[in-house]
This record gives sequence, structure tokens and C-alpha cells, in this order.
Amino acid sequence: MKIAIIGTGYVGLPTGVGLVEQGHHVTCIDKKKSTINSLNAGKLTLFENGLSELFEKNRKTGRLHFTTSIKEGIKDAEIIIIAVNTPIHAITKEVDMDNVYAVACELAQYIEKYTVIAMKSTVPIGTGDKIEALMKEKNSNIDIDAVSLPEFLREGHAIHDFFNPDRIIVGLNSTRARKVIENFYKPFKGKVPILFVSRRSGEIIKYASNAFLAMKIHFINEMSDFCEKSGANVYEVAEGVGLDTRIGSRFLNPGPGYGGSCLPKDTNAIAHMGRKIDTPMSLIEAAIQGNEWRKKQIAWRILDSVKDLVNPKICILGLAFKADTDDCRESPALTVIEYLLERKMNLVVFDPQAMKNAKNLLEDKVTYAKDEYAAAKDADTMVILTEWGCFRNLDLKKIGKTMRTKKIMDFRNLINQEHAKNAGFEYCRIGVS
Ligand code: UDX
Repeated sequence: MKIAIIGTGYVGLPTGVGLVEQGHHVTCIDKKKSTINSLNAGKLTLFENGLSELFEKNRKTGRLHFTTSIKEGIKDAEIIIIAVNTPIHAITKEVDMDNVYAVACELAQYIEKYTVIAMKSTVPIGTGDKIEALMKEKNSNIDIDAVSLPEFLREGHAIHDFFNPDRIIVGLNSTRARKVIENFYKPFKGKVPILFVSRRSGEIIKYASNAFLAMKIHFINEMSDFCEKSGANVYEVAEGVGLDTRIGSRFLNPGPGYGGSCLPKDTNAIAHMGRKIDTPMSLIEAAIQGNEWRKKQIAWRILDSVKDLVNPKICILGLAFKADTDDCRESPALTVIEYLLERKMNLVVFDPQAMKNAKNLLEDKVTYAKDEYAAAKDADTMVILTEWGCFRNLDLKKIGKTMRTKKIMDFRNLINQEHAKNAGFEYCRIGVS
């Protein structure tokens, strides 16, 4: 099939490359010239595990194209996927739909035959109705169906998740569109549950899924504090609880709070929508507040650990919102850093992938180290905030030789406590007394 994808971010680009691998012809469209120039030159614009190899391979097929022109890119497309970002307003917490509506208006000018408009961006309930109405208002002859195809790709695992989804959700109200989408998802037929629901239900499923994951993380973070103060071990508790198949064992890892481009945004958006239609989302609201509190609490713990030192130096390992990504959006690490900077702390930071993105946000407020060992030099405490595998196997003897105070505060519980103690460190972790 011929597919056009608008938006070449963490969703659009891996999806486009994955679709080419499945045999489709794909044109990825982005208004950002530098992104398209770079992709046309064979240079990826974001880091995602496995993407580089697949990108290289599929560029050679001649079925993967990049352009800045919507008019050119959608020519002959049976499906146009909208995957532009939908940021959230900082104060009202409402989803900013400007990008989506601008794309819809432009599409309305150029669509010449029946086309399915598939929404991958996470959008408020009722957006499908609005998109159809808007496009028909702009072009009364247009023949389209808007469908909701919520994406569940995890950053860092997007390629894996693209080919191995738990389920595929399709929200639509038209039998004609259903035929097109059934053809589109043929490679998954019989292998993965494909659930057809109404368009509005499809739109809600994305929010409900991410809100549930956020609540699960908030739950285990609170349970982690509870275990720590009760003389228990949160991992033993999580294992015992998770063996109940009704609960499940995944997403029960305590940490410095959830971050990223989806969970914080989607929880805020659904809570806002709930308030708007007078159906309070009390659990989701509690998770949002609890997650904010969590990051403050972590910063306080760090500040408390250096309170008796003069001009202490803190080494921060991990800036991305989670491992295997270079993405710092809503990263708990950056929020913790902001709190520490408010208290004028001297910070040296390192992340294996996210230095460039972090620099854009933190500018010259911190010192950037070339690796973990350089970051720890002369530090009074080493704080781990992202669960990168490389931090698990740090050479603690080597690090201990250059640190001013041998102290580790591990908010992802990556380091073996015995190793840390044997290397002479004071070692603090979470959820374990
Ligand atoms: C999420 C959803 O998982 C995905 O299905 C959706 O489509 C996009 O949003 P992503 O934003 O990539 O994916 O991150 P995810 O893997 O869900 O992690 C979110 C945050 O929760 C990270 O900050 C992570 O460190 C944290 N987390 C996750 C925990 O603290 N503990 C856990 O057990 C799991």
C-alpha cells in the first residue's frame, strides 16, 4: 500500500521504517527542512534502538521517501497517518491541537480521492469528528474517513514494539475505512489481537492505557517508600503482588517518578478532560500530584545528604527520562536537577545518549562530563537517576579513588549493594530498608 506519514518524531519515523519493512511504500513528511535534509542524506535525527540498521536496509528498497511537501508526499496515498506532536499547555493542561488542525487544513486542499486519515498523535476525545468536519468544511468534495490508530510504542523499544505489539486498536465508524485498515494490518492478522472499536473508544483507549501505567508506577513508588520505612523489600513485595495475573508483574519498578513525552502529558490531558465534562478522575489526579511530589522528595534526599558539606559537588548519572533513549522530555532527572540548582548546588552530569538534548535544556547551568568516571571525580555524592545498563557495571574501585566522599544515592537500584559496600561506599537505594 502507499502510505504517507506526517511527523518524523519518535512515533512517525520508526513507524515509517517499520511499514517499509512490511512491504509498504512510505513517504515521511515533516515541515522541518533540516530533519528532512538529514534523513534524505541517510542521517537519523533521533536515537532509537535498532532503527539505524532498519533505516539503512529500507532506504535501499526505494520504497522509503522523505519530503517537506504535504502536497507531494500524499500523492496516491491510501492512508495518511498523522503523527505530529500534540504538546500540552503548561498552565491549562489542555492538549494543543494547532499542529494537527494545521495539517488537516492543508491536507484538505490536496486530497483528490478516497483517503483514510489515521490519527496516531494522541488527541482529545472527539478529534476524529472534528477533523472530518474541518476537512469537509475546507473542501466540500473531499472523500475521507478519519480513524483512530493509537500507538503504544515505547521509546527505546519502538522497533521491537512495532513488530511485536500486544494488541492493535482501531477506532472507526466506517465499514469502507475498515476494509482499508484490514488490508493495512494484514501482516499482523492472526498473530496479534486486532480490536475494532468505535472511533471515540479508540481515542480513549490510548489515554486510559497510559493513565493506568502511570498509576501503576505511582503505586509502586509509594509502596517503595512504605516498604523502606517498614523494614521490607519492595522487589519481594512487587514479585508477590505481580504473580497475581490480574495485576501482572510489569511496570512495578520503583524510581524517581515517571517521565517522557506520553505519561505526564496524557495523564494531565485526561484529568483535564474529566474536569471539563464533570467526571473527576480522582485516581489519575492523585498519580499526577504524587509523581510531582516524588521528584521533590528525591531532591530533598540528595540535599539532605550533603547538607553538612561546604560547596558540595554532586555527580548526576542519567538525564534521559528512561534508559535506551536520548529523550529528556519531562525527565524526572531534569526536574530533580532544577530543584538542586535552585539550591545553588554544583552539579556535574553525564548520560550515555542524552547529553545533546539535556544541553539544550540545561544550557550552562551544570558541568557536562565525558563519561561516568569524569563525572564522579571529586564528587561528594554520586546520584543515579536513569536506569542505563552501563551504570550497573561501574568500576566502583576506580570511581572510589577519585571521589571526594564515597557515597552513592541510587534511585534506580542498579548497583549491587554488596559490591558498593565492599568498595567502601556508603550506598543508599530506594524501597529496601
Ligand atoms: C509510554 C507507554 O509505555 C507506551 O505504550 C506509549 O505509547 C507511549 O508512552 P514511553 O513514554 O516510551 O512509553 O515510556 P515508558 O516505558 O512507558 O516509561 C515511562 C516512564 O515511567 C519512564 O520515566 C520510566 O523510567 C518510568 N517507569 C516505567 C518506572 O519508573 N517504573 C516502571 O516500572 C516502568
